[in-house]
Amino acid sequence: MSRQEKSLYMTVLMTPDMANFAGKVHGGALLKLLDQVAYACAARYAKSYVITASLDLVTFRQPVEVGQLVTFMANVNYVGTSSMEVGVKVVAEDLRTKEKRHASSCFFTMVAVGEDGRPTTVPRLDIETDIEQRLFEAGKMRKEMRKEVQQRNDALHVRIPEGQTPSGAATG
Ligand SMILES: CC(C)(COP(=O)(O)OP(=O)(O)OC[C@H]1O[C@@H](n2cnc3c(N)ncnc32)[C@H](O)[C@@H]1OP(=O)(O)O)[C@@H](O)C(=O)NCCC(=O)NCCS
Repeated sequence: MSRQEKSLYMTVLMTPDMANFAGKVHGGALLKLLDQVAYACAARYAKSYVITASLDLVTFRQPVEVGQLVTFMANVNYVGTSSMEVGVKVVAEDLRTKEKRHASSCFFTMVAVGEDGRPTTVPRLDIETDIEQRLFEAGKMRKEMRKEVQQRNDALHVRIPEGQTPSGAATG
């Protein structure tokens, strides 16, 4: 039996202070909780301090309502040398009807860092099930996709002269 702790679930009640102007839960409030659960999942797995290197493929599939009970299900899908991909699925439950909905998903890349603030090695992932194997392979592929997207995006970079907006107006 593996002693690795790869998954972490966090359940939070959506309170009125999280609402946006439309009365739904603010996307930013969800992002903060997503970052917290990814941090806790990766830090517990790696047994070290971790930092967020990237967040991608964020989808907001359904609005989340104030009063709903939201569970953030985080899992270490893939481990490189110092980085870990943590997938998070968000399920919102209506407390009256018990209806549960998949509200959001995303992928974090968390990097373990040592005392010097430099990346440090993380434990290899023990793959125990077919699902874990598939998650690992998908995470590995997404890591390659991220590098490719980053390179292609770098090539698209447009330099905006300092002190100007893109339309040529002066800033400030
Ligand atoms: C993340 C960070 C430590 C990486 O440092 P670095 O000098 O690029 O380190 P490396 O090139 O050795 O990369 C280390 C690992 O991070 C991964 N990585 C680096 N930049 C990444 C990015 N933008 N997205 C995803 N993964 C990334 C690399 O693939 C590598 O993974 P591996 O060891 O499993 O192969 C550095 O970019 C950093 O400190 N960023 C700021 C993070 C931060 O402040 N987060 C909070 C934001 S609010």
